[in-house]
Formats: sequence, C-alpha cells, structure tokens
Amino acid sequence: MNDINPNSSEVPQPRHGCVLVVDDDDQIRRLIVRLLQPTRHALEEAGSAEEALEKLRAVPPDLVLLDMQLPGRSGYELLAEIRGDPRTRLIPVVMITGAATPERKLKAIQEGVTDFLTKPFSPEELAARVQALLELKFVTDALEDAERVIVALARTIDARDRYTYGHSARVSLYAGLLGERIGMKESSLETVRRGGLFHDFGKIAVRDAVLLKPSKLTPGEYAEIQRHPTEGKSLLETMKTLSHAMGVVYHHHERLDGSGYPAGLAGEAIPLTVRVTTIADVFDALTTARVYRGALSREDALGIMADEVRKGWWDGRLLEEFRGVLSTLPEDDERILHISGGPPLSPP
Ligand SMILES: [Fe+2]
Ligand SMILES: [Fe+2]
Repeated sequence: MNDINPNSSEVPQPRHGCVLVVDDDDQIRRLIVRLLQPTRHALEEAGSAEEALEKLRAVPPDLVLLDMQLPGRSGYELLAEIRGDPRTRLIPVVMITGAATPERKLKAIQEGVTDFLTKPFSPEELAARVQALLELKFVTDALEDAERVIVALARTIDARDRYTYGHSARVSLYAGLLGERIGMKESSLETVRRGGLFHDFGKIAVRDAVLLKPSKLTPGEYAEIQRHPTEGKSLLETMKTLSHAMGVVYHHHERLDGSGYPAGLAGEAIPLTVRVTTIADVFDALTTARVYRGALSREDALGIMADEVRKGWWDGRLLEEFRGVLSTLPEDDERILHISGGPPLSPP
C-alpha cells in the first residue's frame, strides 16, 4: 500500500518570507515588528534609508514596509533606488502612512509603491496584508525562476552545435541595436531581443545527423531544417511570456519577395520586428564559421546581403541602418566577446 494520498485535503500552510521594516521612529518600528512576530516571518529593521539600503543589498527581503518620512534620504528616494536596481525592483513595497495627502500618495504610486497601510492599523490587518503581498512575491519569484530556465534552455540550443555557439544571443544583441537605431518603441525592442534569443528554438527537433552534416543536404534533409520555425512556434506558443516574440520565431525565414518560408509572406506583411531580426540573423550566420564553410568578414557579408537586397530578399533600408550599427560596434566589442566566449572552434 502506498502511504501517500494524493487527494489529501491538507490545508496549505502560509509560507514564510523576510520582511524589512523601515521607520526612523523606534517605537513604531518595534511595534510593527512585535505585531508581526506571531506570523513567523523573518523580520529585519532599519531606522534610516541608508541602513535600509545596506540591508537590501546584503540580503534582498521579500517585502518592505516603509515610512516615507525618513530623516536624510527620504522614503521616496529609497523607493526609487529599490525600483532602479534589478536585484530589488520586484520586491513589494508598502508605504506606511499617517495622513498622507493625495499628492504624496500619487508621488508614491509614481515611484512604484505596491500598497498603502494607513495608521492606525489592527494587528490582523497588518498580518493579512503582509501575507497577501508575500504570496504575490513568491509567485513572481517562481516566474522569474521559470524565465531563467527558459533562457538557459534557449542557449543550450546554440551550444549543441559548436558552430552556432552564441548565435541566438548575438542575433538578439544585433537586432536590439538595430531596433534602437531606427527608434523602435520599448515593447518592439523587447520583441526583437526575445525573438532573437528564441528564433531557432525549433532546431531542437532537427536531428544531429542533419543539423551537423558537413556535406550537401538532400532535399528531404533540407525540408527537415526548414521545419524549425514551425516546430519553434508549436513548442513555445503556449508560453505567455514569449507570445509577443512568436511572429519572429515563426517568420524569421520569410523574404520580402515572398520566396521565403514557412508562410511565404511578402513586403509589408512581414512585420518590422521580423525584418529587423532577419537582418541580424543572416549577418550573424555569414560572419561566423559554419560546419560547411569558414566565417566571412563583415564587409563580405554586407556585400552578399546587399546583393540579396537587390534580389528582393531583405529590407535595404534596414541593411543600411545596420551598417550604421556596425560602424559603432567594433568586432571586439565586449558584448560580442562575452557572448562568443564559448567552446573553442577547432577544425572538425
Ligand atoms: Fe532559423
Ligand atoms: Fe538563426
């Protein structure tokens, strides 16, 4: 007999987190800590913004309870620092307020406060609010972990073939820089960066014997490689965090004259985010060694791409802008070297 009953109706226990209480008034700070003690959360205290920052940097808490009127650096400044640091920007911050004016509340909202707690408050209200916000933080943490796994997985696709090591990360970098140069808005930049990182994800479904084949592919093998945009889309489309990048994953092998795949889209029907990523993809493919040929110089690659613009494949205006990007991006730019610092490329 199995002892574990999967249908057990055990009540889930509240999880415990770390709460940082920031208030220069010792009495109030200690009162809040005392009220929270029965919740069994780890409790940290700070009497000033400076002390709070030190603690935040040492071990980021899961929740900050913050009095906005601190001596020296104000609670607003502390809040701005928390939101500006990638390690702390997602921590919920609750503003503890006596009789804050609507203007002050508005300012706190603009700085990114999560919630308000108005004095006086009951111990029950404090504990319930803290628990609810901690649960939210745990969900955010889990999503961030999932995101990290996905990005690591995207990188392993490149690592499978030593010739394409770092390809997706470089496509993401080039496409982002090209998007910035042509003034894309932030949401589109996010699409090309994400799209760049995941555009070849479907290659996971292509066999090594085909993906790494040094000689000419048979028509059947070529067709297998050509399925990677469709495979990528079907593998990733259920992931909400990547939905905006799905167009790039699915269409990055389209050509302006409609001769590309898988949909045979033409002209303006190919979204700008896709056309930008395609320029980055083709350029990186040409300038890095492949199993069937060596790396081309930047100038040779741009020459080939200019010929392909004349054939009607790529967006010539974007290629010109991309030349501009490259003129300010030396080949030994730290970002490129950092991405490409993978396994050494020795002859097969
Ligand atoms: Fe591709
Ligand atoms: Fe690619």
